[in-house]
Order: sequence, then C-alpha cells, then structure tokens
Amino acid sequence: MDDVTKRDATFPMTDIVALVRTKPGLSGKLLILTIAFVMLAEVLIFIPSVANFRRTWLTNKISAAATGALVFDAAPSGMVPPELGKELLRQVGALTIWAKRADSRMLVASVDNPPQVDVTTDLRDTNPIFQIAEALGTLAAPRGRILRVTALGMGVEINMTLEEDLLRAAMWGFARNILLLSLLISLITAGLVYLSLIHMIVRPIKRLSENMASFERDPENDARVIATSERDDEIGFAERSLARLETKLAEELRRSKKLASLGLMIAKISHDLRNVLSGAQLFSERIAELKNPSVKRLAPRLVDSLRRAIDLCEGTLAYGADQKAALKPSCFRIAPMLAECWDLAQSVNRMPSSLVNEVPAELEIRADRDQISRVFLNLMRNSLQAIAPPPGQEAKSEAQITVSAKCEADTTVIWVQDNGPGVSQAARQKLFEPFSLSSTRRGSGLGLAIAADILRAHDGEISLVDSVYGARFKISLPNH
Ligand SMILES: Nc1ncnc2c1ncn2[C@@H]1O[C@H](COP(=O)(O)OP(=O)(O)OP(=O)(O)O)[C@@H](O)[C@H]1O
Ligand SMILES: [Mg+2]
Repeated sequence: MDDVTKRDATFPMTDIVALVRTKPGLSGKLLILTIAFVMLAEVLIFIPSVANFRRTWLTNKISAAATGALVFDAAPSGMVPPELGKELLRQVGALTIWAKRADSRMLVASVDNPPQVDVTTDLRDTNPIFQIAEALGTLAAPRGRILRVTALGMGVEINMTLEEDLLRAAMWGFARNILLLSLLISLITAGLVYLSLIHMIVRPIKRLSENMASFERDPENDARVIATSERDDEIGFAERSLARLETKLAEELRRSKKLASLGLMIAKISHDLRNVLSGAQLFSERIAELKNPSVKRLAPRLVDSLRRAIDLCEGTLAYGADQKAALKPSCFRIAPMLAECWDLAQSVNRMPSSLVNEVPAELEIRADRDQISRVFLNLMRNSLQAIAPPPGQEAKSEAQITVSAKCEADTTVIWVQDNGPGVSQAARQKLFEPFSLSSTRRGSGLGLAIAADILRAHDGEISLVDSVYGARFKISLPNH
C-alpha cells in the first residue's frame, strides 16, 4: 500500500480524533452558543405551554361534564337512565361528576365504588406560577393517582374526579411534540444565525488574521497589505486601520533597512577615514614644529581641523557601536568620575574655564562607568563648544560648568548647568535625535543622542530643563 492510500484508509478515524481533541474555533463556539441560547428560549416557552395545555385539557373535560350536568338537571327527576350517566363518564373520561348550584350539590354521574381522591386542583385559580407548579407536579406524579378537579362550567361549579394518568399521558404526548418542534426550530434558527455570523463576522476576522500572518512573513512587501472592503461597520474600520498600520510599517521597515545599510557604509568610511586622518595629523603636528613663521601661523589650524575630523569619525563609529554594547555595571563615586571627564573635555577648550563640582564626595551610583563618563564628557564638551568665542576672538568671560546631584528614594538625579548662551530653539526640536541640527556646524549632532541611548540602556533618562541662564541638563539614574 503506498503512502497516499495508507493515509486515506486511516483518514476518517484520525479526522474524528482530531475533531474531538481540537478546541472549537470561533465558528464552532458560535454554533454551540447559538444552539444553547435558542434551546434555552424554547425551554422558557415550553414550560408555560405545557401548563396551558393541562388547563385547556381539564377545562374541556369540565365543559363536557357541565353540559351533561345541565341536560341531566333539565330532565324530570328519575327519568335519566343510569346507563346515560355511565356513558357521560366514559365520554368525559371521569369517575364522578358533581354539580353545585347555590346551596345544593348534585351527583350527576358516578362509577360504582368511586375511589378515594389523592390530589385536588382548582381551575378557578389562574395564577400562572401556581399552574406551572401543578403542571410540573402532574408530569412527575406517581402512577395511579386520583385527581379531583373543581371548575366553573357553563355557570355551574363542577367537581369531577378522574385518573391523573390520563391527563399525564396527554401532557407527555404534547410535551414530546413540542420538544421535537422546539428542536427543529432551534436547529433551523441556530443554523441561520450561524450562517449569518460566519458570513458577517467569522470570515472577515479570519481574513484579518490570515492577512496579519501573511504580512508578518514579509512585512516589507506592499502587496501583503490588506485590501479593504466597503464595509462601514467595526470590521470595515478594523480593516482600514490594519491597512494603514501595515502600509506605515512596511514604509518604516524599508526606511530603517535603508538607514541601517547607510549606517554600515558610513561606519566603514569613518573607520578608514579616521586611520588616514590620524596619519595626516601626525604629519601636520610635525610640520607645526617647523620654524617657518607662515607654517607656525597656519599649522595649528590644520592640526585643529584634522583633530575635529578625527573626532567626527570616532563619534560616528562610537554611535554605531553603542547599539550593541553590553553594559558592565559597577559601583563608583560620581565626583571623581566628573573630574576625569573634565580633564578629557579640555581637549576642545580654547578659553579660561572651571568646573564647579558640587556633587557630594560620597555619592555613588551603580552603572557602567565608561558609558556614564561618555555622557558627561559629551555634556561638558557641548557646553565648552557653546561658550567658546568664534575663531580669532578672545573669550569675554570664564566658562563655568556646575554639576550637582541628589539621591532621591529610588533615583539619583544629576544636573549639569553651564553659563553659556543656552540651547537654541532650533536645536531643541530634535535635541536627542542622531544627526540633529548642529549649531556649531562642527559636530556631527550625535553627542546627545549617544548620551540619551546610554541612559536609556541604564533605565535612566536625560532632559533639558528650564534655567535662568545657560543650558541645564537633568540626568536620572535608577538606584539599583
Ligand atoms: N550646553 C549647550 N549649550 C548650547 N547649545 C547646546 C548645548 N548642548 C547642546 N547644544 C546644542 O545641541 C546640539 C546637539 O548637540 P550634540 O552634542 O547632540 O551634537 P554636537 O555637539 O553638534 O555634535 P557631536 O556631539 O556629535 O560632536 C548642538 O549642536 C548645540 O546646538
Ligand atoms: Mg556634542
């Protein structure tokens, strides 16, 4: 037997097992719920219907008995043959019939030796709850009970006894019919509701989820964006929202892929350029040592330009590397680290400057020391660059950078304040985004983006806060 035939032979069994094992999907659940709810509605109708049937059945008997009672009453006394009474009982299905008018009570007909009454019912009581309770009582009653019914028939109060089994058999017959009918109605209604739900809800939702799965497999492909329908309901709204989301996502993905390859290319160029520039810097420094006055005048500018070009390359490389660098946290004091950063920041400094280190000497944080140093180095360099006078001009005043810090409940907050011109409105727009506008026209616009990334990696944050003068940055780091 080949593979296909083998699979076909076992198909029905495995299919049934799979059907039993798998949980019903949305459509299966809807079908089960619809049948259950329609059945519930039918049961709610069914019980009062059975009670009503019982009442009608007994009322018909009472009416027949009342008609007989009136005929017998109208006949001259002693003229009614006893067989007629028996015939009336047989027709009605009763054991005894009594009629009561005013004060007199008349036996209309009776079987010989009428049995004792086990249970009574009064049809004059029209309370529906009472009738439902009595109907359920009759259905569940033991066999062989004798029931006495009291009711008004043709203006006469009739008392009639009968075997309750007759009534119960009729009620069960009715119940069976109505049950079958209910079942049929339930199935038809449930089927119709199910089909409309499938058509209106399940299929569109399935289409949405299938589209999501297909889009997930190839999110850059515009062809995978869901085609919207003309529906103006919630499903139509969901389709349109999903289409917008997928279009945006596909665009974003294509853009970031482009940016990523561009970034890689820039990193490669920066790397090689830095090596070339480092060589050129070495030569330019040697040239600067020559005694020639023109060379002496021009060489420092060449050295400075080369140094900035190298800085730019290194900044670009560092930003690319940051994305993946794992943190190496340790506990360290902030104040000495700031002093080190200040020394390094002096490389861009061309004016008198001072650091006011107001950070408590004992204040410690747990973080990656090298990474956090880069944050402060960037901030200090930014301040010095912002305060520095244009080339060829003398500094009017001393640059001052004040760093203060406070340890709060679960955060350490550090403020870096300078006495410069403050951050311009243009620079504020995208201050922490990479390659943002650089007012110095010398930087790459990466320093603050790198700082924000480093702090984000530490679950901390950096922000520019209001200050009366200069620029003031606030750094928060969680206390681990
Ligand atoms: N202390 C400051 N005072 C005034 N302006 C500032 C200050 N710090 C930052 N800025 C402004 O924010 C811009 C962005 O700073 P960021 O450090 O991100 O880039 P950059 O300094 O231009 O370049 P890079 O740091 O990559 O060399 C700066 O160009 C500057 O305009
Ligand atoms: Mg900077």
